[in-house]
Amino acid sequence: MANYLETTKDFYREAALTPDVGLCCTTTPIWQLPGLSIPKIMQQMNYGCGSTVNPRDLANNPKILYVGVGGGMELLQFSYFSRQKEGVIGVDVVEEMLESSAKNFLIAEQENPWFKSDFVKLLKGDALNLPVEDNSIDVAAQNCLFNIFKIDDLKKALKEMYRVLKPHGRLVMSDPVCEFEMSNELREDERLRAACLSGSIPLKDYIDVITSVGFGTVEIRAKRPYRILDPAHYGTEENILIESVEVCAIKDPMPIDGPCVFTGKTAIYIGTDSYFDDEKGHVLNYNMPLAVCDKTASALKELNRPDIYITESTYFYDGGGCC
Ligand SMILES: C[S@@+](CC[C@H](N)C(=O)[O-])C[C@H]1O[C@@H](n2cnc3c(N)ncnc32)[C@H](O)[C@@H]1O
Repeated sequence: MANYLETTKDFYREAALTPDVGLCCTTTPIWQLPGLSIPKIMQQMNYGCGSTVNPRDLANNPKILYVGVGGGMELLQFSYFSRQKEGVIGVDVVEEMLESSAKNFLIAEQENPWFKSDFVKLLKGDALNLPVEDNSIDVAAQNCLFNIFKIDDLKKALKEMYRVLKPHGRLVMSDPVCEFEMSNELREDERLRAACLSGSIPLKDYIDVITSVGFGTVEIRAKRPYRILDPAHYGTEENILIESVEVCAIKDPMPIDGPCVFTGKTAIYIGTDSYFDDEKGHVLNYNMPLAVCDKTASALKELNRPDIYITESTYFYDGGGCC
């Protein structure tokens, strides 16, 4: 087995036994929901870099899988919506992390009258070989784990998520991405990689791996600054900005003309008619912004019409639109 995966396990063994408040996490406020109390220890063990919990994904009583449990905070948040025995399956490869999160769920039970620790079923297992049946999950999530994987392992982990999801199931992820070149020295620093600081790849490459395993729809829901690797602290030649993204990949069939990737582009028709119909399934009503995937945005742009305005990617997509 590749060595960096062992270093990663050791790293999270330590983080399970001694909470590391500065590890991963962002200054974005954590979900506040009526009647939800997140134990302090879970907040201290928040090793994610965004959120994967979105009520929009959680209608119709979904079966939820969470890979890389950390202190258990997001599993508690998912349980808030699912509220049933074993409604959330948590998988982690580090025994100590499973033990710590199990303790944290008992504390959560004390603080939240609606929560029972058996709402979460914890399983020891590897993201690269999930102990979960094919086509059995509606919503799968991972936060700040897959960026640690080198490209072949990332592909393997995504294939595993694809395998366990039901058709049209959703994979919700939060991970760092980086548009800057990183030196091999940084890339091969196994502890830095394990700390989610030197494994991240450009967003386009991240999306390409997701679609290469078969996900037909991808939504970029949020993107925000995450960390800087600066010359004084990391010996870099320049400041390297790392951002974190929230992405939802849907196990929709792959369209013949390629995946639908929503990066927050919008098309607006400002012509003299009441609407514009491209006769390919897209109708733009006068001055009504329509969210469009990048493929539709390019096709509309190619028409070269002054009465169709296409915005740039906002990396904030919250549903609806062309496909
Ligand atoms: C950066 S932490 C994120 C924890 C959690 N998702 C959160 O947001 O707080 C990475 C988690 O993945 C687990 N992990 C590391 N390697 C793994 C692997 N190969 N398979 C499954 N889990 C793994 C670690 O034990 C740790 O719980």
